[in-house]
Amino acid sequence: MPCALSGHVHPYSVRNRNPSGNTHSCFAQGMVQQAVPPAFKEPSPEQAVGVPRPGPVSQAQRLPDTEHRDPQGPEITSVCSNRVSWLDSFQTAQKERPFLYTSGFPVLNRSLSPGFHTPAIKSTYSVKIQVKSPIPHRKLSLVSHQVCWLTPEQTAGKQKPYMYTQGQAVLNRSFFPGFDTPSVKSTYSATIKVPEGFTAVMSATTWEKQEKDNTFTFKMSQPIPSYLIALAVGDIVSAEVGPRSHVWAEPCLIEAAKKEYDGVIEEFLAVGEKLFGPYVWDRYDVLFMPPSFPFGGMENPCITFVTPCLLAGDRSLVDVIIHEISHSWFGNLVTNANWGEFWLNEGFTMYAQRRISTIVYGAAYTCLEAATGRALLRQHMDNTGEDHPLNKLRVKIEPGVDPDDTYNETPYEKGYCFVSYLAHLVGDQSKFDAFLQAYVNQFKFQSIMADEALEFFLEYFPELKKKGVATIPGFEFDRWLNTPGWPPYLPDLSPGETLMKPAEGLAELWAASSLNMEAIKAVDISAWKTYQLVFFLDKILQKSPLPDGTVAKLSETYPKISRAQNAELRLRWCQIVLKNNHEPEFGKVKEFLHSQGKQKYTLPLYRAMWSGSESARALAVETFSATASKLHVNVRNYVKKILASEPVGT
Ligand code: BES
Ligand code: ZN
Repeated sequence: MPCALSGHVHPYSVRNRNPSGNTHSCFAQGMVQQAVPPAFKEPSPEQAVGVPRPGPVSQAQRLPDTEHRDPQGPEITSVCSNRVSWLDSFQTAQKERPFLYTSGFPVLNRSLSPGFHTPAIKSTYSVKIQVKSPIPHRKLSLVSHQVCWLTPEQTAGKQKPYMYTQGQAVLNRSFFPGFDTPSVKSTYSATIKVPEGFTAVMSATTWEKQEKDNTFTFKMSQPIPSYLIALAVGDIVSAEVGPRSHVWAEPCLIEAAKKEYDGVIEEFLAVGEKLFGPYVWDRYDVLFMPPSFPFGGMENPCITFVTPCLLAGDRSLVDVIIHEISHSWFGNLVTNANWGEFWLNEGFTMYAQRRISTIVYGAAYTCLEAATGRALLRQHMDNTGEDHPLNKLRVKIEPGVDPDDTYNETPYEKGYCFVSYLAHLVGDQSKFDAFLQAYVNQFKFQSIMADEALEFFLEYFPELKKKGVATIPGFEFDRWLNTPGWPPYLPDLSPGETLMKPAEGLAELWAASSLNMEAIKAVDISAWKTYQLVFFLDKILQKSPLPDGTVAKLSETYPKISRAQNAELRLRWCQIVLKNNHEPEFGKVKEFLHSQGKQKYTLPLYRAMWSGSESARALAVETFSATASKLHVNVRNYVKKILASEPVGT
């Protein structure tokens, strides 16, 4: 790698955090310092996965970052260089055993053994190799490098390397030492020195650049939990899109980024402030990440990190921005005290997002978007079984479990239903909005448990408390929190029916055993919004597999869908292609997975391939072999797990 990178995070050196593990030229040097946490809350379960308990922390108490996943011992490959090729079993012909090989030409063996690496010298050699069999699968993963170092080829511009951090949930313990739990908040400052031609950005309220030595100084003046500290360094430029907002992106994307969000962000912020109270983070910027960024968006304060897939050209994926803006109050200001209460962050944020969206875009559009969210929850519960313990709002994260492994739709969409249920109990939207504002004001800069939120709700509405709303049979607050399964209350999405009904009707026509093309052609989809098409495709997916030949006809009839560049449409189209084993368009699945690495797109497609036909499974292996090194390490490991599972397909 031309730009091997080394960083320096105070007070421990992170030299050699580069996956190549070899000698590095210097790319970014810096220092991140967390201020002393002002107060501690409830100790959280994630302490069991390597976070020191609150109290004075010595260096000795801090566990190496590999151990939070594998308390039994460090990963073995993390010490190996990238010149030794480690293949997982699915990358071999037999698919039974992992495979390791080296290829010395011309000088690659300097990674394998010390010695005279020149063709001018010959010698005999002997070697003793001990292979433990079977090699545990997890031992082959490169998990310890949670700071992401990208080669130029892994960026949009393909010219310069890039590095970034993604802290949530517990990855920042690889980045700097500190209290890596959302129960603790602190301010921080950081000094980052980068080479000529690079820019550093951080989730900080102020930043300054010292031109003479390319050093950036950042300061976050509000207390935040560790997972919200974020850094990105690369060939990054910015453009103004509002009075307190810039977009940031690689130069080749900056025009598109500006066009996508020029003039719209301020409206979301203003509506958010009106609903939920002052925006305390001064600026709200958006950074467009390299294609492998694993999330749609990450709410790093002052600067949300987003996938470049949002550059749809028509603002159609703006709900992600509204979502991340909503975290400015729910999550970033009032924070879940531990990751088992993640729904407090995401459920309230989904509710806030849809309040802003209703005001800006209207109830019909917002209900349609919420219906696609509900469809995702349905899919998730069908896949896992409603009774799965992760289908509770409050999740028990056992010692040694990485909170990221519990990530699913429940905290988002069931959480949204619960907050909607609270609003339904109140029965008056403006009173409930006022409650949300009071809730933020009450708990701002704190980390709380669900019990505290619910207690505050009952105190705020004493008449509801008196009526015993917390214990209405079938809708007990305790049941909402602690019983898995489908939400006992669903908000009314009927205002979206004007948009949903035509899409539903068209999907029914396409699912018929013999196609009525005349009726199909009579439905004009040219003016349909992206989410209407998404809703239509979700219905088609539910009804799939369709009769032979139908998908080919669908593809031919709607090139606007089958050749879409919009990522949400591409995902659905690929899912339809796979569920119908429509081999002529397998190439689109491959293309899509090569073009981006968002977890919510990548995993469903690998699951679909792996439970599909033999050719679909071959496609999975081929695609993963080609893209694994580009994926975020978490996503890579989740895909590995899918490909290591017993295929259930035909
Ligand atoms: N905070 C999350 C992303 C996240 C969750 C990162 C858990 C790591 C662990 C972010 O706010 C989010 O929910 N993003 C969604 C946006 C969507 C719900 C509009 C995403 O990435 O899809
Ligand atoms: Zn979120």
